[in-house]
Amino acid sequence: MPPSSDTLHSLQPQLTADGSFTFLSADFGEAFHSHHGARQEAEQKFVVPTRLSDVARRPSLALLDICYGLGYNTAAALATIWAVNPQCQVQWYGLELNAAVPQAAIAHHLLQAWPAPIATQLAQLAAEQIVQSDRFTAHLLLGDARQQIQQVYATGFRADAIFLDPFSPPRCPQLWTVEFLAWVARCLAPAGRLATYSCSAAVRTALLQAGLHLGSSPAVGRRSPGSLASFSPQDLPPLSRQEQEHLQTRASIPYRDPSLTDSAATILTRRQQEQAASPLEPTSRWKARWAIPSTYSSIDKIL
Ligand SMILES: C[S@@+](CC[C@H](N)C(=O)[O-])C[C@H]1O[C@@H](n2cnc3c(N)ncnc32)[C@H](O)[C@@H]1O
Repeated sequence: MPPSSDTLHSLQPQLTADGSFTFLSADFGEAFHSHHGARQEAEQKFVVPTRLSDVARRPSLALLDICYGLGYNTAAALATIWAVNPQCQVQWYGLELNAAVPQAAIAHHLLQAWPAPIATQLAQLAAEQIVQSDRFTAHLLLGDARQQIQQVYATGFRADAIFLDPFSPPRCPQLWTVEFLAWVARCLAPAGRLATYSCSAAVRTALLQAGLHLGSSPAVGRRSPGSLASFSPQDLPPLSRQEQEHLQTRASIPYRDPSLTDSAATILTRRQQEQAASPLEPTSRWKARWAIPSTYSSIDKIL
């Protein structure tokens, strides 16, 4: 893998519409969060749909943060959990490729938007990749999530909530494939919930193929909803007719990475070939039927 251009010095705060900051990734050509609001995205796309304020009433819970990044999703989760139940013990795993990202967030004081004990513990996590305190047991696994997820599974860890927050499918298809999401599903507890900002039909198909039921999380500050997945269909907000029909189009052909080692280019080409040979309805026809602008995209992380 070539050396990363996203370094401690190159990652500079960029303002988003809710007053919180994100970074721009030179490696992936995309912002780390929605330009509508980084903090709002963490709360509304991840913490609220996984119902952490309810789960936090238990004495302990398990949380898996895939693509930890600046740490906003985890910071927002911890703030919600401990506001409800200050004694709740949080067992936590995080996966992240680039240690410079959480370290740059600390260097720019971006975690200080959350209560001080959370900012302090996440600073320790960024520096040492481990925190062991009375209510937070945390391991940040650095490296490619495609391999690290298998380590998480091997420990027996099963999450009550999973945050799935890679860069968009066209930029980082490696983390949206049938094979990767099958490993992610293996790490989800029977009644757990997975949340992601993406409403891509390819991502939703991969979640279905992993044995999960699908729901739609509300559109907040943007046109498109996110996705929720769980082994139980109970209480999942149903997909609209338009979203269900999207899953019958060529857009629903998922990304595949049989060996969990392919490059982004190889995964994208494999999918394009499968789409070209597919008997499914062209996605342009679905868009025309629902009067969806041809510029529509399920990505909004591009600043
Ligand atoms: C959209 S950002 C995540 C933002 C983050 N959840 C937050 O709250 O700040 C995507 C993250 O995925 C990481 N990443 C990219 N490829 C990865 C891989 N193969 N394995 C693990 N992490 C990866 C990037 O370094 C980046 O930090």
